[in-house]
Amino acid sequence: ATPKRDAAAEQLTQQSKKHQVDKDVITANWGTAVAGKDASLTVGYNGPILLQDYTLIDEIAHFTRERIPERVVHAKGAGAFGYFEVTHDISQYSAAKVFSEIGKKTPIAVRFSQVAGELGYADTVRDIRGFAIKFYTDEGIWDLVGNNQPVFFVKDCALFPSFIHVVKSFFRNPATHLRPDYDMFWDMVTLRAETTHTTMIFFGDRGIPASYRKMHGFGTNTYAFVNAEGKFFYCKFHHVCQQPIENLTSEEAQRIAGIDPDYHTRDLYNAIENGDYPAWNMYVQIMTPEQAAASPYDPFDDTKVWLRSEYPLIPVGRFVLNKNPNNYFAQIEQIGFDPAHLVPGIEPSPDRMLQGRLFAYGDTHRYRLGPNYLQFPVNRPFKVTNFSRDGDATYHSQGGSPNYHPNSFGGPEVDKRARNLAPVLPLHGEAKRVDNGNDDNFTQPRMLYQRVMKPDERGRLIQNIVSWLKPTRVDLQERAIQMFSNVDADLGQRIKTGLNTSQYVQL
Ligand code: HEM
Repeated sequence: ATPKRDAAAEQLTQQSKKHQVDKDVITANWGTAVAGKDASLTVGYNGPILLQDYTLIDEIAHFTRERIPERVVHAKGAGAFGYFEVTHDISQYSAAKVFSEIGKKTPIAVRFSQVAGELGYADTVRDIRGFAIKFYTDEGIWDLVGNNQPVFFVKDCALFPSFIHVVKSFFRNPATHLRPDYDMFWDMVTLRAETTHTTMIFFGDRGIPASYRKMHGFGTNTYAFVNAEGKFFYCKFHHVCQQPIENLTSEEAQRIAGIDPDYHTRDLYNAIENGDYPAWNMYVQIMTPEQAAASPYDPFDDTKVWLRSEYPLIPVGRFVLNKNPNNYFAQIEQIGFDPAHLVPGIEPSPDRMLQGRLFAYGDTHRYRLGPNYLQFPVNRPFKVTNFSRDGDATYHSQGGSPNYHPNSFGGPEVDKRARNLAPVLPLHGEAKRVDNGNDDNFTQPRMLYQRVMKPDERGRLIQNIVSWLKPTRVDLQERAIQMFSNVDADLGQRIKTGLNTSQYVQL
């Protein structure tokens, strides 16, 4: 019997049903009908192809330009569309219109991804997963570009490029272009103990989700809210998964990687096509500037969480994904998220990683997608009225409005609401470089290990760490044992014992 085919396998069949009655003709890229498609225009049977075969030349010339640079991180991913709905009133914290009334719906696009792998990489690798949401709000685009973990490996953007070099494509050595080079990974991880918290999550069960639909999401970095009275709050975003959380063991993940490298992408597509729409509830944690000033830990350090016992989750809304892309490249490869895309009522915080990110994304998009990427259908806001014009691939004409400010010809003016919500920050201090890398790196990982992880997960954590440490140089193994001993003496001891006994399992 024929095995049951899933929605992804049926895509072409379903598509063809729509076109049975109204068959399209083949056109050239400029829209005129093409006379022949199976043969090029040659002089006689064996003669050369004529330059006059301009439809052929146009198609080949387009084909040779089909690839654009892949994302420097988060290259492999999948996405879908849906909506965000407000379920609770948080106007006391933020004046953003996206939260303005209960029941208000805003269209969204979401892209999930792996951080490290290249575009063709297997989905089921051990890695952090990206969780980026684009809100098409009445006040412009708001991008909340987070991960499936509440913390990140490093806390200062100065270290981000180096850290990505040691994890990118699971640590490809720059000379040999070969992976893995475990020495690179453990060298940097153990030299920067701030990585401990995320490294423990990375090697724990959450390191390989079974599906993009079965994991939580986090804004990870600290943001800020401003309410209608101009009052300022710091906040963190949490997306609580409404599907049961499910993870894969290293062995399962390794097996699936060989059989179906696009496992997560297929799963998301099929679920949505089958009407099994994934949903998350959005919450925020709120910290006042006074609480931030008095906090025993740095609230802008993205290697740390804000304790829920002190900063409880406040419900905001829910979001649902109910539509697949119909052209992956146009809608998902060309989607450009940017933490600097904020709306009035939502602001950046001094989180050093977020500060670096405010520059990086727009910069990479202008390189990867071009200077007018915000005019692409998937990226464009409902309305843009300003003084930017021209450049590669300009589509938006701005209706003949003047391209300079100030002007006397009815050009757009500054919005009072946005101006009133722009916070006034009392900044003072010396400009200097302060390395905060050794600022209490073990308390929260200790809580994670001792209080959150169950005994069986601790066993898998140790097995996973050992499997990545085993092929590493001995002095680096010793540094790692020391780092994990600082979390918990027993953890360090069990890794040491594991290194002397266990088999080498890569993943
Ligand atoms: C993607 C830079 C930290 C989440 C990217 C991209 C760059 C980048 C250049 C590629 C964007 C593209 O080509 O479309 C940085 C820098 C960071 C940083 C410089 C630190 C200073 C983080 C952190 C998170 C994060 C802490 C999680 C909170 C993501 C996600 C994507 C991404 C989810 C993929 C977006 C998509 O799906 O298109 N990052 N990143 N990044 N980054 Fe970061």
